[in-house]
Amino acid sequence: MGDVAVTITRALELPRIVHLGPNLYGAAFSLMKLLPARHILDRARDDGLLEPGTVVIESTSGTFGLALAMECRLRGRPLVLVSDPAVDPALRRRMRDLGAAVDIVAEPADVGGYQRARLDRLAELCSRHPRHFLPAQYSNPENPGAYALLADELAATLGWVDVLVGPVGSGGSMCGTVAGLRDVLGRDVRAVAVDTPGSVLFGQRDAPRRIRGLGNSLMPPNLEHSVFDEVHWVSDREGFAATRALHRRHALYMGPTSGAAWMVAQWKARLEPDARVVVLLPDEGHRYQNTVYDDTWLRRHGLRLRRLPSRPVEVDTPGDGGPEWSWLRWNRRPLAAVVPKGAAA
Ligand SMILES: Cc1ncc(COP(=O)(O)O)c(C=O)c1O
Repeated sequence: MGDVAVTITRALELPRIVHLGPNLYGAAFSLMKLLPARHILDRARDDGLLEPGTVVIESTSGTFGLALAMECRLRGRPLVLVSDPAVDPALRRRMRDLGAAVDIVAEPADVGGYQRARLDRLAELCSRHPRHFLPAQYSNPENPGAYALLADELAATLGWVDVLVGPVGSGGSMCGTVAGLRDVLGRDVRAVAVDTPGSVLFGQRDAPRRIRGLGNSLMPPNLEHSVFDEVHWVSDREGFAATRALHRRHALYMGPTSGAAWMVAQWKARLEPDARVVVLLPDEGHRYQNTVYDDTWLRRHGLRLRRLPSRPVEVDTPGDGGPEWSWLRWNRRPLAAVVPKGAAA
């Protein structure tokens, strides 16, 4: 028998594709960010950007950092992750156990919050390590480029897809997957973005948010607005309640960005019974056991919601979105066509 064993990152990078309703499928990942982490490092290696001793440096407070830590450990590559106090201690310990140096910035910047502060710190670290490589998930086109593999997998498993729904943080997964699907299927596929109130991604003003992984305080160059047909803003407590409902209804133990996306996808699938809807479910529930999956924590933070809303409120401009689930017909417009310059955050 040939050697069929692969590394754990390779073994886990593609999702399980599961049936969630007559016309609804979920792409349930262990850790979606393994796809861009491997792809970006492979490309950098092939382009000769990773010499012996070259340090990988990235700003992240979540799953991309973990994926990089796993991938760099397997490659024996030094890694520095710049993060902020919101990174949960268990994740920090796990990244350090994998050999990553985790550098925590103490204070948010006045404009752009912790994300800006992290990028400033990143620039400092780059001058300290002249031989470095920046995966730069927010701007590296290889982040969306990594998802061609997912599009191929969805096409091979399902045959066709009409609507793709997913959370948006850097924009990599949704923009890359929908571009890949339109290409490989040779047909139109609609894209539905799931964001949260207080995120600047689709034209709202920056404000504090509890849900991590989707939404952003800065605009990532990898977010190509004109691929999206609809944008939904799901509040933190709705996203958390939906995560629990996804678990109770389908025994799928996923993180809160999955719950938020599933709530939107379920509505979409109900509304359009003849369309085949696929939803991206980016990570598992273990990291959120003591928060989203803990009723006491939810109650203490005023985040417990007993009933999920059955439908969103439609709005005409991003500024009218929120504070609870709302949606806008984006109609594949660039950001500037929806939000005149200077009108948003
Ligand atoms: C848990 C989780 N869900 C969703 C996303 C959003 O994915 P993307 O950055 O590809 O837009 C992220 C991004 O970090 C994430 O960590």
